[in-house]
Amino acid sequence: MTILVTGGAGFIGSHTCVELLNNDYQVVVIDNLYNSSEKSLDRVREITGKDLKFYKGDILDHDLLDRIFKENDIDCVIHFAGLKAVGESIHKPWEYYNNNIGGSLTLLDAMKKAGCKNLIFSSSATVYGNPAEIPITENCPKGTCTNPYGWTKWMLEQIFTDMHTADPEWNVILLRYFNPIGAHPSGLIGEDPNGIPNNLMPYITQVAIGKLPELGIFGNDYDTPDGTCVRDYIHVVDLATGHVAALKKIKENVGLGIYNLGTGIGYSVLDVVNNFMEATGVKIPYSFKPRREGDVPQCYSSAEKAKKELGWEAKHSLKDMCRDSWNWQQKNPNGFKD
Ligand code: NAD
Ligand code: UFG
Repeated sequence: MTILVTGGAGFIGSHTCVELLNNDYQVVVIDNLYNSSEKSLDRVREITGKDLKFYKGDILDHDLLDRIFKENDIDCVIHFAGLKAVGESIHKPWEYYNNNIGGSLTLLDAMKKAGCKNLIFSSSATVYGNPAEIPITENCPKGTCTNPYGWTKWMLEQIFTDMHTADPEWNVILLRYFNPIGAHPSGLIGEDPNGIPNNLMPYITQVAIGKLPELGIFGNDYDTPDGTCVRDYIHVVDLATGHVAALKKIKENVGLGIYNLGTGIGYSVLDVVNNFMEATGVKIPYSFKPRREGDVPQCYSSAEKAKKELGWEAKHSLKDMCRDSWNWQQKNPNGFKD
């Protein structure tokens, strides 16, 4: 079975390529390398001892997509390609809507022309907005997003759902990721953010390695056990195996499937800092800062549906995530840059 992985050179995409190759799928990647390096794919080859096919290019490029479908017998698309910086999306809405929505529409058109009707999409817990229930089940109504990035996920879920409604031969699986962190235990691939990281774990590892002086914790007066925000952190390798489980499901002609990919456990920012220090022995200086605009107090999943219907559950602990994030950071202080 051949899988087209859009955005396969990125953080989650590269880890998913490893799991796909380990499960004997043929892998074809398209990535414009806007937020990634081709080196990640060399590392995927090194980890697995297997090859994959890479097209450097943009999902907005109709002709290239048509060529990829002509040159390869694609059974399913796993669609990661997209811009994902929440703050940036507020200042560059057109770029986000054009890339994420325009790119996905181009991809759908190429899939239609090629008769490929199986799609697994990287959605996000962000579609729940300020969630109406905790833990969040897939039945929780979608909420109001606080930024254009979130809206692109919200709207794309609707677009892909409508494709299935219009033509039930389409199998669409929407995977709502919670907070992916960690790295491959080899330390060969991991998250490589540009500039100062916005997300918690890469910020912590950059403090740990001495690139940044201290962590600012955004808010300690939330209505949570220790006053800091609670999230559902999931090891990126577990997230990657979730895609393999989704692929098995899609082969059963699932129609439309919506699954949370999380652990079902909520940890506070302070829990993450303390687990990191315990797992690595490195001290993380921090101070409390004002709340960050748009943050919801608590966001963690019910992981039951994925367990029941996909036979998948996350296996790694928060300490594993901290250890592997630190291993990646130490072995690659500048990420994939020389
Ligand atoms: P990433 O930036 O590391 O990977 C995305 C990849 O897509 C990058 O390699 C980038 O170069 C590529 N890309 C972007 N636009 C493209 C285009 N027009 N054509 C071709 N390639 C393009 O991000 P990630 O963390 O691996 O996220 C993967 C997907 O998961 C994204 O859709 C993201 O929105 C979603 N997601 C991520 C998180 C998270 O916290 N990391 C949470 C929920 C959902
Ligand atoms: N945080 C800090 N200091 C930092 C960075 C983050 O205190 O320097 C806090 C945040 O305020 C938040 C928590 O750490 O309470 C997690 O923040 P992240 O930025 O790591 O993650 P978010 O939960 O804000 O968002 C992430 C992805 C989104 C995705 C969402 C899904 O960035 O793309 O998870 O739940 F939509």
